[in-house]
Amino acid sequence: MCGIVGYLGVEDAREIIISGLKRLEYRGYDSAGIALRKCDSGTFHIYKDKGRVARLEEIADFSFKTCLGIGHTRWATHGVPNKVNSHPHQSEKSRFFIVHNGVIDNYKELKSEILNGNKFVSDTDSEVIAHIIEKYSDEMSVNEAIRKTMSLLEGSYALAIIDTYNRDKIYACKNKSPLLLGLSDKGTIISSDVMALVGYSTKYVPLKDKTFVEITKKGYKTLDIIGKEVEHEVKVIDVDYFNIEKGEYSHFMLKEISEQPSVIRTIISKYFDKEEVTLNGDISKAIKESDRLYIIAAGTSMNAGFIGKELFEKMAFIPTEVHIASEFAYNMPLLSKKPLFIFISQSGETADLRAVLVNIKAAGYRSLTITNVKTSTLAREADHYVEIHAGPEIAVASTKAYTAQIVVLAILAYGQSDKHINLRKELSKVAISIENIIDKREYIEALVQEYLTKRNCFYIGRGIDYYACLESSLKLKEISYIQTEGFAAGELKHGTIALIEEDTPVIAIISQRSIGKNTRSNLNEVQSRGAKTLVISTNSVHEHGDQIVLDDVYELFSPLLTIIPAQFIAYYAALQRGYDIDKPRNLAKSVTVE
Ligand code: AGP
Repeated sequence: MCGIVGYLGVEDAREIIISGLKRLEYRGYDSAGIALRKCDSGTFHIYKDKGRVARLEEIADFSFKTCLGIGHTRWATHGVPNKVNSHPHQSEKSRFFIVHNGVIDNYKELKSEILNGNKFVSDTDSEVIAHIIEKYSDEMSVNEAIRKTMSLLEGSYALAIIDTYNRDKIYACKNKSPLLLGLSDKGTIISSDVMALVGYSTKYVPLKDKTFVEITKKGYKTLDIIGKEVEHEVKVIDVDYFNIEKGEYSHFMLKEISEQPSVIRTIISKYFDKEEVTLNGDISKAIKESDRLYIIAAGTSMNAGFIGKELFEKMAFIPTEVHIASEFAYNMPLLSKKPLFIFISQSGETADLRAVLVNIKAAGYRSLTITNVKTSTLAREADHYVEIHAGPEIAVASTKAYTAQIVVLAILAYGQSDKHINLRKELSKVAISIENIIDKREYIEALVQEYLTKRNCFYIGRGIDYYACLESSLKLKEISYIQTEGFAAGELKHGTIALIEEDTPVIAIISQRSIGKNTRSNLNEVQSRGAKTLVISTNSVHEHGDQIVLDDVYELFSPLLTIIPAQFIAYYAALQRGYDIDKPRNLAKSVTVE
């Protein structure tokens, strides 16, 4: 994971890098660092420490003008988060400074085979890269030394490199981890994501894998690994990227929960012409021609995938499987004859999904990515992509992307169905009903105070409600640290009910007429064992005493509603415990390592 930013130009490098890193903190935030060149003397200075990017503002010397630098915000993979393991890392003789995003799989072999005898100061895989570049730069040009190093690295990397002997240049290169160049007439920015460019560049160049870049005051040159010049397309930044302030909200998560009705309306405006769905015909064709859909995803996106399975199977009668990306990549099941792979990813950068995409492409299978970031790796590399139009999602806990993914999946499934409902009308009803829940959020806050008093909690439901429970529990555990599981209600009695004790919170989701009674029986079972129960139900299936009763919507769309109180429950549980809601511990928004 990690975020990197570099800058060379006439503006203040320190300001551009620090503000860019703050925008990239969603990629990791356990330590941060920056290397800067003083404009007048040309000397280089490194500041780094454990903690957030804001820490750099406390430790960096702001008394001199800077015009070149590289910075990093870290999500630790190799070595605990501390000052020594923070980036930038230096080569043995301190000629090179590097910042790295990715994982070098063969760093131990490189240490023993190429760098035997070198002294390392950190526990990271990254430090090895700086040492190798320095070793080869004794025998060849820096440009060649970096490309030779690239040829030896196995794994993923996005790198920004300073050579203290070449004070007016920055180098960069990448493989698998994202990296782009932001362009303006005042300088060039290197960044892991467009977000860091906000306010400085309106154009950018997404870099291809195995690309090497040399940046000077005059501009940039992109080469492939053997030194041949390669063309890269220049793109214009989508204005949506500029909508990344919290505004009146205390947290991005609260803002993003509240944006869900407008996200649904945006999706309707993008994919409907009056009552008709207007999706790219090639995508419908790909779905129609397949005999089975394989949804590949992780975390919240996988939970949206489970709802997608219900939609494809129940609306369009297409058999659909949902797979954990990290499992599928190394343990592929027997496939049907004409599979279509659907990758669901908010960021479009999740490494576990990319590992699957690479494999299935090599095997000649077709693919579709559903993502919030149309410029992302998974969007670029799949045969087709559909954008979910949720707008930038900043909070680590995904909320509006989940509902947007489900809405897009509903549109795709509807395209293959007998069109027995008016989809546009049903989705519009959902948007209004979500607004009704948002209006009642203070009531939910009070329920949280009353019910979520323990270290653990269970969400139970059946069928599509069970899938909604999976997402509800993920939300609660990731930001409130309450140990929560989403359970198929009927399965509880086969072992897990042993964990129920006096006042254990059990939240039931009941939105389906056919199975509501069964879930209520399971609720009785836990109540008799002391559980403190809270019910989220829909109007037509509710019973007296249910604490949260939601509007009725088309049955298969109920997860779009039941998740909203669950998102608020997670939010308020974290708020009441005083945790950092938008940046929970140990997590990162974009998981670009396997
Ligand atoms: C969501 O709240 C999580 N932070 C996480 O599970 C996330 O959904 C997962 O890492 C997948 O990310 P993606 O959608 O960007 O692929």
